[in-house]
Amino acid sequence: MTHDPVIEALLGALTADPGNHPVRAHVARLLLDAGRPDEALANATTVLAAVPDHVEALRTAAAAARALGDEARATAYGRLADALDPAAPATPPPPGPDSPPAAPTAPVAAAIPDTADEILQRWTESEAVAEPAVGTIGQAGITLADIGGLADVKKRLDMSFLTPLRNPELRLKFGKSLRGGLLLWGPPGCGKTLIARALAGELGANFYEIGLSDVLDMWIGSSERNLRGIFETARRNRPCLLFFDEMDALGQKRSQLRGGGSSMRGVVNQMLAELDGASTDNEGLFVLAASNHPWDIDSALLRPGRFDRTVLVLPPDVEAREAILRLHLRGRPTERLDLAKIAKATDGMSGADLALICEQATETAMEASMASGRVEPISQRHLQEAARSVRPSIGEWMETARNYALYGNDAGAYDELAAYLNKRRR
Ligand SMILES: Nc1ncnc2c1ncn2[C@@H]1O[C@H](COP(=O)(O)OP(=O)(O)O)[C@@H](O)[C@H]1O
Ligand SMILES: [Mg+2]
Repeated sequence: MTHDPVIEALLGALTADPGNHPVRAHVARLLLDAGRPDEALANATTVLAAVPDHVEALRTAAAAARALGDEARATAYGRLADALDPAAPATPPPPGPDSPPAAPTAPVAAAIPDTADEILQRWTESEAVAEPAVGTIGQAGITLADIGGLADVKKRLDMSFLTPLRNPELRLKFGKSLRGGLLLWGPPGCGKTLIARALAGELGANFYEIGLSDVLDMWIGSSERNLRGIFETARRNRPCLLFFDEMDALGQKRSQLRGGGSSMRGVVNQMLAELDGASTDNEGLFVLAASNHPWDIDSALLRPGRFDRTVLVLPPDVEAREAILRLHLRGRPTERLDLAKIAKATDGMSGADLALICEQATETAMEASMASGRVEPISQRHLQEAARSVRPSIGEWMETARNYALYGNDAGAYDELAAYLNKRRR
């Protein structure tokens, strides 16, 4: 077997970035031409697992399978390639066992540079983030320091999530697997999405968010396929934190479904397969979900190895409220403010409610500034008025949650919530 330096360089680079399909497809072709059909086939099928309609990979796979004597597989790949790319049918004659592999036919091959340096050059130039078909992807832009309060939650996430990720040796020693995902749950507007984003920031990973509307769109299309595409996009953009917001919409219990039960079941199963990652490599992929209604989530998704680590994100206590107010007034012109006083007066409010108070106070100050023609800073009075006008938004959630904590807490899943509710009663 020849030792081709271009191939070796590219294979080495693929180890560092296994999700780079254009390069892998090219390597597969080079391997095939170098008389290494088994490796060519392995690489081509890896590409096809992520991009099933990759014509070049299909052609390579067909030729490699043929070279390996697997005529049935060769025909199948060839037919698929022809169907996708009728302009350039391959239709090679069935060769003898020792005949050389079919010549490259895909026109794309011509556009690909031939030296390793050229390829690596293009590779680094190519955009790091592929535009996803579903959801949005990008840099997180915040870290845990940008989140007010939630000291316990931050400490727990640091110990159970960030530290093990940053210490692979330690993880190995203790045999701790990172399989499965983390579920953030709790009342709306208290920082679940913010935390997920900040964890991506802490890890320096891309933040790939699948929101409620994306999930609902998925029901219209072929949802299992979409979900597979989402995980593929996430793997292509590793390191990546894949975040399913509003998980309850995706993983609803079958009992609550009208009509669409089977398609929902398919999505849950697909999710389980992706999380189990038996056939795929999930290194560098972190899966988080959030839910306001964990009681609506299919319990299959909450079993060990799936979303088995759960973190309750509760409304901010008085110190946290002060910190949140301070964060949301950061960089704005203010008088000397007694934020502790506002924090005391806003018990039962969520982080989102507090953000709204800051917005309203800012608007009032801006209006005053426009009227007077000079900058009127945000005052204590502006904040107090805003605090009085904003209704706490989590009362209804608390009522529902109380019922689950009281009557639906068989497995102890809501112990932490029950303890919180008890403490507040007193
Ligand atoms: N702990 C917090 N610190 C700072 N801002 C917060 C906090 N919690 C909530 N907020 C504000 O409320 C908004 C909604 O929070 P979000 O994380 O989307 O809540 P959830 O996902 O729990 O519904 C945030 O964009 C932010 O402005
Ligand atoms: Mg949210």
